[in-house]
Amino acid sequence: MFPLIALIGLLATSLPAQTSGAKKPEKLAPYYPTPEYVVEKMLQFGGLKRGERMFDLGSGDGRVVIMAAQKFGAYATGVELDDDLWKQSSNRIRSLGLEKQARIIHGDILAQDYSTANLITVYLLPSSNDKIKPLLEKQLKEGTRIVSHDFEFAGWKPEKTETIEDDGEGRSHTLYLYRISKKTQAARE
Ligand SMILES: C[S@@+](CC[C@H](N)C(=O)[O-])C[C@H]1O[C@@H](n2cnc3c(N)ncnc32)[C@H](O)[C@@H]1O
Repeated sequence: MFPLIALIGLLATSLPAQTSGAKKPEKLAPYYPTPEYVVEKMLQFGGLKRGERMFDLGSGDGRVVIMAAQKFGAYATGVELDDDLWKQSSNRIRSLGLEKQARIIHGDILAQDYSTANLITVYLLPSSNDKIKPLLEKQLKEGTRIVSHDFEFAGWKPEKTETIEDDGEGRSHTLYLYRISKKTQAARE
C-alpha cells in the first residue's frame, strides 16, 4: 500500500503556489532615484534629528537611508522589493561601516511595521500613496512626520509644501510634509 506520509508529501508538492496563501508583493512604483540635493532637502524638511528613527518606503539604491544615517545621525531603515537594489544598497551600507545605524529590509512596503518611526519618507505614485495611507494611519504614533516627494496623500492636509524649482538638472520637485495627529488617527476607525 502507498504510505500515507508519501501521499501527503506528493499532494503538497503538486499544489499550485497560490494555494500556499503567500500574496505576491505589488510593485508600487518603478525605480527612479531622488537627486542627492533633493534627498538632503527632504530630510531637512522632515526635521530629522540625531537619534531619531526614519524609514524610506521603497528605498532604491539606499541614498535616503544612507544620508539619514551618515549626515543626520538617524537610525535609518529602507524597505526594498527589488533584489539587485536591496543587495546594492546593503553592500554600500556595509562598505561605509554604517550597519549599526542603517539597514535595508528586503520586502514589501505593505508588510512592515513602522510604529517606531519619527519620520517616513516616500517617493512613490499617487495610487501607491492611497494604498499605504491606511497602514500609516493604523501604525504611526501621534507626531510622526511624513515627507512625500512629488505626490500628495489624498485626504491629508500638508503642514508645509516646498517646491525646489531647479535641482541643478532643470527638474523641479515638490515636497509635502504631513504630521500624524489625533484627527489622522481617528480617520482610521
Ligand atoms: C521612485 S523609487 C524611489 C527610490 C528612493 N526612495 C529614492 O527616493 O531615491 C521607488 C522604489 O520603490 C520600490 N518599490 C516599489 N514597490 C515596492 C514594494 N511593494 N515594496 C518595496 N519596495 C517597492 C522600487 O523598486 C523603487 O526602488
